[in-house]
Amino acid sequence: MPCADHLPPVDLSRVSATSILSGEHRVILQVLDVVEKLAALALRDQRIPSEHASQALEVLAKFADRCHHGKEETVLFPVLEAIQPGFSPVQMMRAEHVESRAFIRAMTEAVAAGDAASYARAANGYVDLLRQHIHKEDDILFRFAGQMLTPAQDAEVLDGYRRIEHDDMGDGTHERLLGIADTLATTYGVPRASDSQQIMDLLTAICGCKKD
Ligand SMILES: [Fe+2]
Ligand SMILES: [Fe+2]
Repeated sequence: MPCADHLPPVDLSRVSATSILSGEHRVILQVLDVVEKLAALALRDQRIPSEHASQALEVLAKFADRCHHGKEETVLFPVLEAIQPGFSPVQMMRAEHVESRAFIRAMTEAVAAGDAASYARAANGYVDLLRQHIHKEDDILFRFAGQMLTPAQDAEVLDGYRRIEHDDMGDGTHERLLGIADTLATTYGVPRASDSQQIMDLLTAICGCKKD
């Protein structure tokens, strides 16, 4: 297997097992930008902007973790591990998902307790972890995956993503969470991933929801 730098990047112009996840990464990065601003406000004011912090946490817990990490852990990663048992990049990504959940718990507890310093610490830790995690997936793991998956395996993974969105998340949930992410981005002056038609096409390819 060549080094990742010599493999083509994820092609966002077509629907595939990796482009769907890379499209979702753009939304998660957008929410991370918002969370970074919420953490700075919490530190500055010694008070958590709790309504917005709770909305961001809902998107992180349901969209980033349950839906997105769910697709990776239960659909894409097992297929990659079946192709290459013990594939170490996947093991590292699984461990980082576990780490990210601890940060979500810490942020949730800090919001409930009104503890601004703890919120900012957990929020900044989460932002740093997830930005690096997404970078590793987009630039390394997904490049390998693009070489590893046959067209039939790619289609099988896409079917698995559909099951998660319809059966586990429930119809309409994806759309509602994207709406919250965009409202927060507008409030905090963060660019919206959904303003790119290419990304929007990927975000709606599986769930079928449409941006108005
Ligand atoms: Fe991941
Ligand atoms: Fe990811």
